[in-house]
Amino acid sequence: MNVTLPAPFPISRPRRLRQSEALRRLVAETRLEVGRLILPLFVRSGRKLRRPVSSMPGVFQHSPDELVREASAAFRDGIPAVLLFGIPDRKDERASGAYARTGIVQQTIRRLKRELPELLVIADVCLCEYMSHGHCGVVVKSRGKVRIANDRTLGLLSRAAVSLAEAGADVIAPSDMMDGRVRAIRAALDGAGFEEIPVLSYAAKFASAFYGPFREAAESAPQFGDRRSYQMAGSNAEEALREVALDLQEGADMVMVKPALAYLDIVRRVKETFGYPTVAYSVSAEYSMIKAAAEKGWVDERSLTLESLLAMRRAGADLIVTYAARDVAGWLGDRGARPV
Ligand code: PBG
Repeated sequence: MNVTLPAPFPISRPRRLRQSEALRRLVAETRLEVGRLILPLFVRSGRKLRRPVSSMPGVFQHSPDELVREASAAFRDGIPAVLLFGIPDRKDERASGAYARTGIVQQTIRRLKRELPELLVIADVCLCEYMSHGHCGVVVKSRGKVRIANDRTLGLLSRAAVSLAEAGADVIAPSDMMDGRVRAIRAALDGAGFEEIPVLSYAAKFASAFYGPFREAAESAPQFGDRRSYQMAGSNAEEALREVALDLQEGADMVMVKPALAYLDIVRRVKETFGYPTVAYSVSAEYSMIKAAAEKGWVDERSLTLESLLAMRRAGADLIVTYAARDVAGWLGDRGARPV
């Protein structure tokens, strides 16, 4: 913004407002609140299972019963929503587990909605966890070349979205990056009577090394190749805006930028350009790097985490997906009412 300061009121002593904690808090422009955090959780079959993810200290693969416990604790902390990822018992080349009525995420959502009806459940829609090859779409081989078939993937994504809505998901969040998937999913949801279920699109999702630890957590690393034919190149900001525009035209209600910390310029531009509810996904390596450096005693975990998340809010994110949501709730205390 271009502000011309009125001549009679020069702000000559900015330090006046920095003198005490109370004053600093009073004039804080941006606040980090627990009510704006979304906690990602991983579910796999079993009972009483909390299997640690070694590359993400403090993150677990939970069995459904344990996941409900974790989600209740998060809800008591003031966290309003969870984002669910499933690790199926079996993977195949049609990602059957993604849209099975008894799929691991579907079962878990039914349980969550029964036991914790007020907690918002956001269901990630993607095929990579359910495909034997680990790609987010259908793989076809033609003339000796392997490619991800865009339009053949849309039907499977739509089935997954409808089946997650039938299980009781409050929000459907496609993360696959196929072209046209928001339109396809919106039409499928509407056709099945779920006109009221919002779509949170991972609209600007970049091909990123910051996803490394997640692929251990979700057991979803691609078995060959990489995701650069569908996820975006880090060099392209204009393209990110076009991706967001397309998803909004196709019916997305909220949009996500992912990763967060290395893409704050994108968060800012998406928020300023479109003004829609904008979500920043602080991804796995953003979390793990802080944990690892803190374990070595090189950084202060609490300050570093809060400062990073506050930067996402300042960049324009309304909501933040973060594995540190419960840590943050603990640090902010009192249901997150206090600003940082
Ligand atoms: C893919 C998906 C990914 C993440 C969530 N869903 C990335 C990927 O494997 O390409 C990454 C999240 C994280 O790193 O925390 N469906």
